[in-house]
Amino acid sequence: MLRRLFYLRLVIAVAVVLVVMLQSSPALAASTDPYVVRYLHVTEPIDLDLNGQGETRSFSPQDLSSGKQLFETNCLSCHVGGATLPDPLVSLSLKKLKDANPPRDNINNLVAYFRQPMTYDGSEESYWCRQVPESWLSKEEVESLAAFILTAAQKAPGWGSENF
Ligand code: HEC
Repeated sequence: MLRRLFYLRLVIAVAVVLVVMLQSSPALAASTDPYVVRYLHVTEPIDLDLNGQGETRSFSPQDLSSGKQLFETNCLSCHVGGATLPDPLVSLSLKKLKDANPPRDNINNLVAYFRQPMTYDGSEESYWCRQVPESWLSKEEVESLAAFILTAAQKAPGWGSENF
């Protein structure tokens, strides 16, 4: 009787260890895009500028990976490598984002731009870029998209080139 109890405990212990192993790092690593690790050098959460006024928000490697996924599916056709094919001078480079009016080198302003694209000088609505309404992507999703673009603009080699 005692012996059977021992085996039962052993089986339960092994099962618990297996479940814990399955849920831990290999599964997490699998959801991080290799590009994020290799070219953006993000392996743990990073703080990004939220509003140009010193506030930041933390984004995990998984957030950046889902942002990259959204970018690839919906934006890449015009913005391959951070360039802007229909209008090369308005690329997604950090300098271009920074010099726009209002500056687009922070999360909130990028999100505001996705919700309603504006001309580079901010004077009127632009119909060239793809608008992202709330009915399509949630706040969380557009923030991940913004985080990916901002980090790529800061770090990805060759991002936002105007010569291609
Ligand atoms: C059909 C082509 C097209 C698609 C698709 C597209 N864009 Fe654009 N995007 C443009 C053009 C053209 C501009 C410049 C528009 C302007 O200044 O009037 C632009 C501008 C931008 C800018 C501003 C760049 C700067 O330097 O200020 C951002 C940010 C941006 N797009 C993000 C996105 C995102 C995110 C997506 C996907 C959800 C997307 N775009 C999809 C064509 C596109």
